Amino acid sequence: MTARIIDGKAIAAALRADIAARVAQLDFRPGLAVILVGENPASMVYVRNKDRAAGAAGLAAATIRLPATIGETELLAEIARLNADPAVDGILVQLPLPRGIDPNRVIATIDPAKDVDGFHPLNVGALASGQPGLVPCTPLGVMRLLAAAGVQPAGARALVLGRSAIVGRPMAALLLAADATVTVAHSHTRNLAAECRRAEILIAAVGRAEMVRGDWIAADATVIDVGINRRPDGRLVGDVAFAEAVEMAAAITPVPGGVGPMTIACLLENTVTAALRRRGRRAGR
Ligand code: GUN
Repeated sequence: MTARIIDGKAIAAALRADIAARVAQLDFRPGLAVILVGENPASMVYVRNKDRAAGAAGLAAATIRLPATIGETELLAEIARLNADPAVDGILVQLPLPRGIDPNRVIATIDPAKDVDGFHPLNVGALASGQPGLVPCTPLGVMRLLAAAGVQPAGARALVLGRSAIVGRPMAALLLAADATVTVAHSHTRNLAAECRRAEILIAAVGRAEMVRGDWIAADATVIDVGINRRPDGRLVGDVAFAEAVEMAAAITPVPGGVGPMTIACLLENTVTAALRRRGRRAGR
């Protein structure tokens, strides 16, 4: 049987509309500051999309463009200025940063209460120990997709393929917090195909084009493909061989149009969450 397609574009649009409605009810405008250092073409596209989505949801969005030649000290000073600005609720520094700037030092300088990427060590620790904090946008988007698709992580065998700081590790922590039985697989995992076949929820986040084949997937599985890879012919593909997998899985996300749109929607959600918590109000979810 052919898998049900989980339409991330539609689910993200609904989430964005919900956030815009919540923002319209507030007596202030949550502020998001995005810092872009240099002119990495992919980063320029991402940052423009984030800025537009934030504006459309009614947030006060500002993009701060800094030259690639900026020194680390000046960048840290810019972050300190945003930390001190009461109108700024969320700060995001687009990665990667130019060589010579230490991303860990940059991330650690952001006020954890404004860290809408959820990358600050305090937020990483909060997630790992099951305490409230700000959670990275892409894995949060995956949790929202599962919920919208009616897939229950509680009690399910979940496999996270990939252990990056941005996706794999926080993804595993979120699934664990939602009571899934979680396995994290990576490049050293023996018999990867057999591990994948045991999963009821399979999250692929390795960044290798079409690595997960159809016969790695159980018949009842929900497959969430976080990968975005460009083939030599220019085609965008995920980490999962979609044409094969769609014939095997129960439900699957496409690439593009699956996880991608959820990441930006969850950045907006995190900004509203940060804005409410900073004012001592409940974020409501
Ligand atoms: N570059 C690629 N993904 C991300 C992300 O989620 N956040 C930031 N800040 N930069 C990125």
